[in-house]
Amino acid sequence: MYRYDEFDHRLVSTRVEQFRGQVERRLSGALDEDEFKPLRLMNGLYLQLHAYMLRVAVPYGVLSSRQMRMLAHIARVYDKGYGHFTTRQNIQYNWPRLEDVPDILQDLASVEMHAMQTSGNCIRNVTADHYAGATADELEDPRICSEIIRQWSTLHPEFSFLPRKFKIAVTGSPHDRAAIRVHDIGVAVVRNGAGDTGYQIYVGGGQGRTPMIAEKICDFLPPEDLLSYLESILRVYNRYGRRDNLYKARIKILVHALGAEEMRHQVEEEFAAIRTQDSLRLPEEEMSRIEAYFAPPSFEDLSADTPVLDAARAASSDLADFIKTNVSDHRMPGYKIVNVSLKPTGGAPGDASADQMDALAEMTARYSFDEIRVTHEQNLTLPHVRAEDIPALYESLRAHGLASANIGLVTDQIACPGLDFCNLANARSIPLAQNISERFADLKRQHDIGALKIKISGCINACGHHHVGHIGILGVDKKGTEHYQLSLGGSADENTSLAAITGPSFTENEIVDAVETVVDTYITLRHEGESFIETYRRCGMDPFKEKLYGTD
Ligand code: HEM
Ligand code: SF4
Repeated sequence: MYRYDEFDHRLVSTRVEQFRGQVERRLSGALDEDEFKPLRLMNGLYLQLHAYMLRVAVPYGVLSSRQMRMLAHIARVYDKGYGHFTTRQNIQYNWPRLEDVPDILQDLASVEMHAMQTSGNCIRNVTADHYAGATADELEDPRICSEIIRQWSTLHPEFSFLPRKFKIAVTGSPHDRAAIRVHDIGVAVVRNGAGDTGYQIYVGGGQGRTPMIAEKICDFLPPEDLLSYLESILRVYNRYGRRDNLYKARIKILVHALGAEEMRHQVEEEFAAIRTQDSLRLPEEEMSRIEAYFAPPSFEDLSADTPVLDAARAASSDLADFIKTNVSDHRMPGYKIVNVSLKPTGGAPGDASADQMDALAEMTARYSFDEIRVTHEQNLTLPHVRAEDIPALYESLRAHGLASANIGLVTDQIACPGLDFCNLANARSIPLAQNISERFADLKRQHDIGALKIKISGCINACGHHHVGHIGILGVDKKGTEHYQLSLGGSADENTSLAAITGPSFTENEIVDAVETVVDTYITLRHEGESFIETYRRCGMDPFKEKLYGTD
């Protein structure tokens, strides 16, 4: 795991003290809200419907037990006893008091965390595959590239006032768990014909009101050129991005206007001019230095046979269900990846209580080499668990209400804060997710339905990723009442696709039935072993539309 050096420590603690002064001036009235706004946003502090909200960065989603304990402490002492894990692998606190925020930031700094660049028109917290370092199909640990990008982008003077916010995601495996093609820049680790490792670069993906899938503009970038190439993209964007129109300011609009070929050409031109600059070249020693932080933990030499786990699974159908959905293969024999669902029946997706976070910190230290990950689907992952420890871990999870066996199933939904918290919302997202969760509570039914991703946003900004949900739900305002538009066929993996709208929107009272109709239609259409998205891609929208709206 990356540890702060002296420079990081100084930078973060200086920022805390600076913000303390700014908050004091706001509280004394020396600064009014308009003057204070840009200062608080530089420190991840938003003003929502009812209160301030603090968004804390979790670089590429990786936390130690000590950090998780601190997140629990903050939830307990300064908030209402819980935190909310987000789709950008961060955590948000919904109820901090302004006067407490400097102390919260100081507490975070003590465990090498902060809230910088979680807001504003800068390069945001870089996200990565939550299975980093643990899967067999990985070509290179994406945390190496992510950490390099984190250091380069932190307070980058040229890119602190971009036309709009900028999000970068990295995958180290061909199977994309980081949704790289719906990011401003997506980085995929690849290997060329000669067996060298490098990066494929995608640009111009995004969601919001104009969803777009990123275009590949570089097939193979040698690692030493990573920063000069990224810098070139950002320069082109910074120069030509639409600052005149908020809705056209993201890089996706520029890529769309220029076309991928012209974008590539412009980036290559800039790249040719700056690639030899020493300050941007990554010498091998620097790569190795960063790589060393992510060296594999001291795995034991274990057998691939797991008799203890097999026996426990045979004895408990609950554990068997949990293993089926929440446990994935690890690259090391005798180890497994264990996913912890933050989607209990009727719960708010992504919420965890302070007690749960403390319990998870304990489990992280005991069972997973002191590492836990936040996933972009608002769950958590213990990346390196001995298979034989899973029965005991499962019991601990169960004791804390964290053993829902629904990862990847219909109740494992993403939902944005929506009208419960957000001042941009048209409709509530969390209560809808809760109602859908209740409707499909029967686990046997969920397992029968199989892999199905529902994603809910309370407005067109698409924080809840509805464009890439197998079933997407968007809150719309129809003559002052909350309505929901349904869309089908989205996906955010290596076969990224954007969902298509089914037709007229549904009322609050109709939408859960509509979702159930879609699911039931899939059940009648599916071939043996076919998932929802596969069936949708084979059959198209018509049969679903027919069931939802009738044939007349
Ligand atoms: C204070 C509450 C929030 C506000 C005001 C807000 C605002 C926005 C806005 C305006 C956009 C559209 C940006 C654009 O297209 O340029 C957006 C996109 C997005 N937000 Fe939020 N957001 C909030 C909370 C969240 C939360 C809690 C999450 C994660 C659960 C989140 C994740 C995202 C993501 C993933 C996108 C779309 C990806 C993209 O940038 O294209 N946001 N948000
Ligand atoms: S999608 Fe809309 S309602 Fe939901 S959090 Fe984003 S801005 Fe708010």
